[in-house]
Amino acid sequence: MGHSLRERMGYGVPYKKAIDSEVIQHCFNVGEYTKSFAKYIGFSNCEVELFKLAAIQHDLGKMDCDPKILLKPGLLNKKERKHVNEHVIHSFNRAVDLEQPCFSVLESIFFHHENYDGTGYPYKLKGSEIPIGARIIRICDYYDALTTDRSYKKAMTTSEALKIMKDNENCFDPELIKIFYNYISLYNLENESA
Ligand SMILES: [Fe+2]
Repeated sequence: MGHSLRERMGYGVPYKKAIDSEVIQHCFNVGEYTKSFAKYIGFSNCEVELFKLAAIQHDLGKMDCDPKILLKPGLLNKKERKHVNEHVIHSFNRAVDLEQPCFSVLESIFFHHENYDGTGYPYKLKGSEIPIGARIIRICDYYDALTTDRSYKKAMTTSEALKIMKDNENCFDPELIKIFYNYISLYNLENESA
C-alpha cells in the first residue's frame, strides 16, 4: 500500500521526540505565512504552491539533528553550530527522497538560511544569487521562530519581533522585507477579526 506525500514527510505519525512536533508545527506555520505572503506579493498560483511546498519541508531535517544540541540553552560552540546548520542538507535530502522532487522546491529548501548580504549558509550566496523562494522563506521562517513559543523560550509579540527583524535587515531582501511589514500588519488584523 502506498503512503501519501504527507505521511512520507513525517506528518501524522506519532512523534518520538518533543522537538519533532515543534519542527513540524513550525514548518506548517511557515508554509501558511509563505503562501499568503507570496500571494500578497502577487506571485502566480503555481509559484505560490511551489514556495509553500518548500516552506513546509524547509526545516524537517532538524529531526535528523541531535535534540540535545537543538534544545541546548545558550550559545552553541563551533562544532554544535555546524551540526545544526547541516539541517538544510538533511531537509534537502528528505525532499529528494519524495516523489517528483522539483528543482525550485529543492533549491528553496537548501538555501533558506542564506542572508541577502552574503553572511548566511551553506554557501554565503548574496542578493539575487539566492533563489526567490528561499528569500521569501527566510523572512517567514525568521518571523515565525520569534513569535512562537518553543520548549526553551517564550513567544515575542509582533512588534518585538519586527524590531528584531529591523535590527537584522541584512538577512533579508530589502524589497521583500518592506512588503512583509505591510503584509504582516494586515495578516494580523485579518486573523484578529476572524
Ligand atoms: Fe532552518
